[in-house]
Parts: sequence; C-alpha cells; structure tokens
Amino acid sequence: AACSSSGPARPGSSTGPFVSPGGPEVTAAERRRGSGPLRQVRLTATESTLDLGGPKVRSWSYDGRLPGRELRVTAGDTLEAVLVNHLPEPTTAHWHGLTLRNDMDGVPDVTQRAIAPGAQFTYRFTVPHPGTYWLHPHTGVQQDRGLYAPLIVEDPKEPLRYDREWVVVLDDWLDGVDGSTPDAVLSELSAGMPSGAPGGRGSARHGDSGSDGGTPDMSGAPDMTDMPGMGAMGTATRGPSRMLMGAASGLLGGDAGDVAYPYYLVNGRTADDPQTFTAKPGERLRVRIINAGGDTAFRVALGGHRMTVTHADGLPVAHTAADSLLLGMGERYDVLVTAGDGAYPLVALAEGKNAVARAVLRTATGEAPGKDVRPAELARPPLTAGRLRAAPSVALPARRPDTTVPLRLTGGMAGYDWGFNGEKYDPARRIALRSGDRVRLSFRNDTAMWHPVHLHGHAFALPNGGPRKDTAIVLPRRTLDVDFDADNPGLWMVHCHNVYHAESGMMTLLGYR
Ligand code: C2O
Ligand code: CU
Repeated sequence: AACSSSGPARPGSSTGPFVSPGGPEVTAAERRRGSGPLRQVRLTATESTLDLGGPKVRSWSYDGRLPGRELRVTAGDTLEAVLVNHLPEPTTAHWHGLTLRNDMDGVPDVTQRAIAPGAQFTYRFTVPHPGTYWLHPHTGVQQDRGLYAPLIVEDPKEPLRYDREWVVVLDDWLDGVDGSTPDAVLSELSAGMPSGAPGGRGSARHGDSGSDGGTPDMSGAPDMTDMPGMGAMGTATRGPSRMLMGAASGLLGGDAGDVAYPYYLVNGRTADDPQTFTAKPGERLRVRIINAGGDTAFRVALGGHRMTVTHADGLPVAHTAADSLLLGMGERYDVLVTAGDGAYPLVALAEGKNAVARAVLRTATGEAPGKDVRPAELARPPLTAGRLRAAPSVALPARRPDTTVPLRLTGGMAGYDWGFNGEKYDPARRIALRSGDRVRLSFRNDTAMWHPVHLHGHAFALPNGGPRKDTAIVLPRRTLDVDFDADNPGLWMVHCHNVYHAESGMMTLLGYR
C-alpha cells in the first residue's frame, strides 16, 4: 500500500463501518441541510420512439424525451421526484454531482433496491447547492439508451449577470435502435483511433504535468487521440462487454435501416438538424454544458466567440477565458459569452472520432453556418480542469490528508477487465473511511486508456487550489490526487464514468458513518 494512510482507515478492507442507508448519521446530515420549499416532479422511464432530428429511433427515455425534461430547482429546495419504471428491467435515478443524502443516491443494492418494472420510487432530499447537474440511472448501461436529463439548481443569490441561458447536453448515440453495435462502428474502432485530430499538437505534451498527480493537462487533446482507446467505445463491444450491451438493450426492436451510427447529439438532435438558440447581439449568455455521453469526450467551441468559464461541475471557479473546452463523460462547465451579430455554430467535436455534434446560435437573420463548419476555436488547445482554480467561496482549505486511498486504474481492452487495484466491482467490498477525515484519493492509471473518475456525494478538490469537481479525467500512465472531507456519511461510489468501463467493473465503494 504505497500511499497508505496515517489514519485508521484500511483501504481495501472488506469490513469496517457500514452505514445502513437512512441511518441516524444520514438523517442528521440531512437535517443540517435544512428543508426548503417542496418541489415535486414525476419522471417515467419508458420505452419510446425518439426523433433525433431526422432519424427516429426506438429506445428508452424519461417521458419519451431526449434529453429528459429539464428539472430546475433552487438551492435549499426539497426535491421530491417520483420515478415510475415502465421499462422491462429494474432502474434507479442517480443525481450526478449532488452532495445529497446517501439513501437517495440511486445506487442499486447499496443505497436502495432497484425499482422493479411496473413499480415506482420516491426520491426526496434537500438540494444542497446551486449548479449544473444531471441525472441518469445507475443500473447497467441504461444511461446510454437515452435515460438522462439536466438538473439545474439555481442560486437564490445569483452573482452572475446574464440575459439568457442555454443548456447544452452532449451525447454519443452509440448502440442504436436494436441494442447491438453496428459492424461499421466495430470496424471503425478496431481500425484504431485517428491521429491528429483538429488542433492537435502532438504527443510531446504527455510529460508536461509529470506523473506526480497534479493536473491532467490535456491541452492539445491529441494527447488523447494518440492514445489507444481515447474515446474508443468499441472496446465495450468486444468480449464480455458485447454481451453486456446486448443484455442491457436486448429487448428493443427497431429498424436500423440506412442510418449511420454513431450519432453525436446536442440536446437530442443530430448535426443534420441542429437546435437553434436565438438571442440579441450583445446579450450575455450563460451556457451550461453537460457531457451525458457514455463513451465520448467532447471538445466544445462556439464559433466567433471566446468563452469565460465560471463553473466546473456546478461549482464556481476563478473566471477563465477559453476558446474551447474539453469535457469527459459526466463533466459539466458553465460559460458566459457575449453574443455576436450573426449566426454561429456551436460545435462539439467527438475526440478521436472525427465527428461532431452541433447547435446554432442566431442573433441575426442570414445564412446558418454550414454543417461542416469547424470553428477556428476548436483548433486551439482546449481548456481542461487542471488549468482552473476554485473560487474562494468553495476552495478546499489546505490540510494534510488524514487518509490516502490508493486506487490503481487497471484492466485493458483485450480482456475488458476494467477495475480498481486489479479487482472488479464487488458491492460487498467497502473502503472504510473515518468521518471528519481529510481523504485523498490517489488515482494511478495503469491502463493505456484515459478514464473520467467520478465520486458520489462529495466535491473533491484538484491539487494546488484546483477546482472542486465530482468528475475528473485521469490520463494513461498518470496519477491524479484529489482531496475531500468526509462530511457526508454513507456508502459512496467511486467509478469510471465510461459506462462500459464502470459496468465491466471499474467501480468501488467508500463508506463511513
Ligand atoms: Cu453519473 Cu455514479 O454516476
Ligand atoms: Cu474508464
């Protein structure tokens, strides 16, 4: 245990404090959050026909929409969400990024029993703080069927000034209507990743941020396109995982016809029929960008505009200018832009895949940008989390960690045996933490692929005053240390947010009361 703890926690131990969901510590923590006005919503997870802006597909969604209807609440509200399951298999809802009460976290067999077909479950919790979040099932790879929705938590004392707001949800539509992966995708993937994506700067930057943790510097994201497996969803379709996907979606029928997979979507629409967002020239727009994809990092730019990043994973950062942004699966950024006079493409480049999702910002009449327009901003190095600094209001005060949990990311494409420390997820195995400790998760990526690691129930801090986040990219052969305070008792997941990696075993549980 290289970085073993100075505290009593025994990382990897299979016994230790077990918090039964809803135990007294969990309710006490919730009481401290208070309970504001009740906001009630109802979601139905159902098989439906979805119009992706041209192609119609048969898949699963919340209430027949893709993305699901936006939930918008205010920090401090009590959210009561009834989830009705009309799917042919069990489901749950996970409120990605919220530091909520543990028993509402939506992890099957850990924080709740999965909701059986035909049954429903009522989630009820205090929404702790403002920001851009989203929800998705935590059962198998259902998220990748189309079950996701944005969750926007407004700030009752919003400090930012803006005229309009735009929520941009990115997705990769990979396995299509019949639940299998088309051969075209398989052969594209087995052919390997294209090198030299737009804006590429070559692999010389690999060593830039060293291997001592710190900031994953993905500037010139060719860093990733060089790397076998960056964005290679197809790995999920080899060996055991192909069965996994089939099992998750095998009940769906449909006509694949002549459609070309995968699709890349902005707000559920393909690049052929993009959403148009209108504003007036000179208006300040807040754009909330969410990567809900199962297996794709997106590099996002708004042609003709510079963005000012204000939030990472929902929490404020020191305002930072960016030409383009890189979002791994599960990550969110909020940006401000001042609208120009014209029609501009918002383009999300699927890293390593030479394909785009897009939308249009229009502030004047005139020709819409063509489908193949790639904004010059995309060719410049994208901003990544490591370059950001937490806003003082949310910065984690410096403190030596009491406990360090080493988590080696292990596995590979050949065996599709993704895991932590060489082991697949086992819900009976919990890494025991002590309440009140400053905890360091020390990720070491021993694989040839990058992984967006996600922690439930907390916002960790990236090193050196970096942003508070819940999801962060760990590049191949790199390490990343993130710190958080154990101040939200319960059993909490840590996992890769590549849904196929997670499902194959790259998940583990932390627990304390
Ligand atoms: Cu968005 Cu455990 O996931
Ligand atoms: Cu992964």
